[in-house]
Amino acid sequence: MDSHSSHLNAANRSRNSQTPSPSHSASASASSSLHKRKLAATTAANAAASEDHAPPSASFPPSSNDDLESISARGADSDSDPEESEDAVVDDDEEDFAPEPDQDSSIRAFTAARLDSSSGANGSSRSTKIKTEISTVKLEAGTVTAGVSSVSGIVPKDESAKTSTDDDVQNCGAYIAREEALRREEAANRLKFVCYSNDCVDEHMMCLIGLKNIFARQLPNMPKEYIVRLLMDRKHKSVMVVRPPAGGNGITHVVGGITYRPYHSQRFGEIAFCAITADEQVKGYGTRLMNHLKEHARNVDGLTHFLTYADNNAVGYFVKQGFTKEIYLEKDVWHGFIKDYDGGLLMECKIDPKLPYTNLSKMIRQQRKAIDERIRELSNCQNVYQVAEFQKKEGGSPKKIRVEDIPGLRDAGWTPDQWGHTRYKLFSGSGDSVTKQKQLNALIRVLLKTMQDHSDAWPFKEPVDPLDVPDYYEIIKDPIDLKTIGKRVESEQYYVTLDMFVADARRMFNNCRTYNSPDTIYYKCATRLETHFHSKVQAALQSGAKSQ
Ligand code: COA
Repeated sequence: MDSHSSHLNAANRSRNSQTPSPSHSASASASSSLHKRKLAATTAANAAASEDHAPPSASFPPSSNDDLESISARGADSDSDPEESEDAVVDDDEEDFAPEPDQDSSIRAFTAARLDSSSGANGSSRSTKIKTEISTVKLEAGTVTAGVSSVSGIVPKDESAKTSTDDDVQNCGAYIAREEALRREEAANRLKFVCYSNDCVDEHMMCLIGLKNIFARQLPNMPKEYIVRLLMDRKHKSVMVVRPPAGGNGITHVVGGITYRPYHSQRFGEIAFCAITADEQVKGYGTRLMNHLKEHARNVDGLTHFLTYADNNAVGYFVKQGFTKEIYLEKDVWHGFIKDYDGGLLMECKIDPKLPYTNLSKMIRQQRKAIDERIRELSNCQNVYQVAEFQKKEGGSPKKIRVEDIPGLRDAGWTPDQWGHTRYKLFSGSGDSVTKQKQLNALIRVLLKTMQDHSDAWPFKEPVDPLDVPDYYEIIKDPIDLKTIGKRVESEQYYVTLDMFVADARRMFNNCRTYNSPDTIYYKCATRLETHFHSKVQAALQSGAKSQ
């Protein structure tokens, strides 16, 4: 899919012009050749439009322009289809859309405004909110009979889904929270997911123009003529999220949509464009839209897969929607049907035959509940114990805590003979826990000293001074150093296993390598000292094993 990335240039976007294909996958950004031809195409289209206010009968761009041509797969040439030729619609890039005067023009007015082409050309970053697309379609009172009608397979199946409480939302994760919020909007008729194509129904056409405006703004690398061409191509369909007018009359606001072409015989669909209006991005609309699309494509079109060419900016979004970089669909099925691009990444999504895509949140909630219940059967980790009394001090210093007195420890399966429990079996089975702890402490002291005495230990001897390295603690969230480790060793209470001590040392080395680049002396010191340290640990373990 194309996105507003400006780094995608003509060089890495050249498509394989040898491959006949019915439609561009707009996933890949437009090549410069498209831009060069845009002017000619617009001129031709405008000339046609000026003859009659009806959409031009001649399709644009010229048939010689193979970048913009829309040819049917394997011989079914849509350009030569007389019905489709009539459907070609000129872009309203430079003019407000003017509906045909002879078709009830007196009862409707369009306010699909022209887009600011300069800002569109510059693109927008995901984090920068640009001016909202004017994708609103104004209807005079009484012209819309049933608001925006939902399409079979698009209506949420379970309208009676229970409303989440705030508590639920906190416990269920952002995905479910967003999905359920949008489901509630749908149930309240404040939001609709519809699927329209160029069928000359006024209401549908107006929504398509609204969607075209969003695509034009959000996909600035894509020539607007090309967007219009595919959007209005009768073989393409657009699943849209719209806000119906309050009370059924007034303004239908298009929030976003996905335009795709179903290949019914091959049972896959090619996603051409996908965008959400700037003000509504990252609120879950894109995900819900994709879920509606999948359900519609499966239930209505009988599709099993989607394919799309994604550019770098869009790959992350598609991955989150279940698209993979691996193409499992046999090449014979799709090759020659969709455009080949150099630079765009072909991605695939298998549509599950059973998943309730528009009600995933309910399913996930039920699965989560089942897993929680099973965990509770196997564990008592849900029990919370009070530890307040352990924070008391005795004579100014922290109260000594016996491990066996920690509430809940025994309930969690701990037993006193686990003193010194470690992956590293150091000591023989004989001896009480106090003796074992003494042996462990002695070993840890030796290991600490071998680090402290090493010539590469100097960067680690003290905690990093934030005055010397101001951003250190922004990057390293769990700092550690030899001095701190030394204090823990001195307490003789902290390291109850060798693992704990080794883990602290490892964290010290990893922190150093995270903050410093490999060519620095610090990085090299960390690696050398770590090698030395691990050789000493191994030696200790081996001598411990021999003595057993
Ligand atoms: N790259 C990486 N991740 C992205 C992303 C992108 N471009 N866009 C959205 N995501 C992530 C979101 O952060 C979110 O992740 P989370 O679930 O971990 O929080 C997830 O995808 C879904 O986000 P959602 O809010 O449902 O998506 P959206 O409403 O913002 O719609 C787009 C996504 C891509 C359609 C929308 O951002 C858009 O119109 N972008 C501009 C046009 C474009 O790039 N189109 C795609 C190619 S044609």
